[in-house]
Amino acid sequence: MTGALREKPKKITTHVLQEMKLHGEKITMLTAYDFSLARILDSSGIDVILVGDSASNVMAGYMTTIPITLNEMIYYASAVVRGVKRALVVVDLPFGTYQGNSKEALNSAIRIMKETGAGAVKLEGGEEIQESVERILSAGIPVMGHLGLTPQSIHKFGTYVVRATDKDEADKLVKDAHILEDTGCFSIVLEKIPALLGEKVAREVKIPIIGIGAGKGVDGQILVTHDMLGVTQEFSPRFLRRYHNLFTEIRGAVENYITDVKKCDFPNEREQY
Ligand code: KIV
Repeated sequence: MTGALREKPKKITTHVLQEMKLHGEKITMLTAYDFSLARILDSSGIDVILVGDSASNVMAGYMTTIPITLNEMIYYASAVVRGVKRALVVVDLPFGTYQGNSKEALNSAIRIMKETGAGAVKLEGGEEIQESVERILSAGIPVMGHLGLTPQSIHKFGTYVVRATDKDEADKLVKDAHILEDTGCFSIVLEKIPALLGEKVAREVKIPIIGIGAGKGVDGQILVTHDMLGVTQEFSPRFLRRYHNLFTEIRGAVENYITDVKKCDFPNEREQY
């Protein structure tokens, strides 16, 4: 960190994130999909909470982010917002609710803002969704972009490998980042791209760039909380640092509970009325 805001802001806004970039203070972002976890993240001092469509994988057990619906995102997001006092809450527009039809995109974003109380929405894509981004912004709704590996396009990519390793794709990504900035996005997530490219984009655009597998030269980092806490086990990309092994810890606790109940050790005298 090369600098930090002198006073901790009471509430994180898009303006505060911009200030953090200007001061060289890294932005921290994690995902949440429920009230209890959101409350823990917020009390830890996280800057931004993303109600990601990764809920499709993590909460609902689907293989991709494609199946999750707008109603489901609204259900998760409103629970998260109820648990948050300080962080900026950003909600993913799910697949099929904004691509190709800017009026539908606006209606989806309005539903998210009205029915959840979140502070912003996130959309995947660049030039091809520019009209949708413009229309949402025209209603006063802050928009975060998402470039690089965009999981809603997994059937086009065919694989979750690192994106933009060739010049054409890298050039398009840089161009898209400028388009999103010029259109009025307040920030962009870059997923799974070479570190040098992440650094270049963060240097060239003025809005904060948040990376997930985009190296250390960007303005902030996001991880899926269930991955970094080790609740999920099957997913181990190079960019993922695990801070805990909750799968094993929770399983151990549940095994102890089962043992205690089976041997009539729980509840004991002090645990009953
Ligand atoms: O849905 C999600 O969790 C995301 C992050 C991986 C950036 O989009």
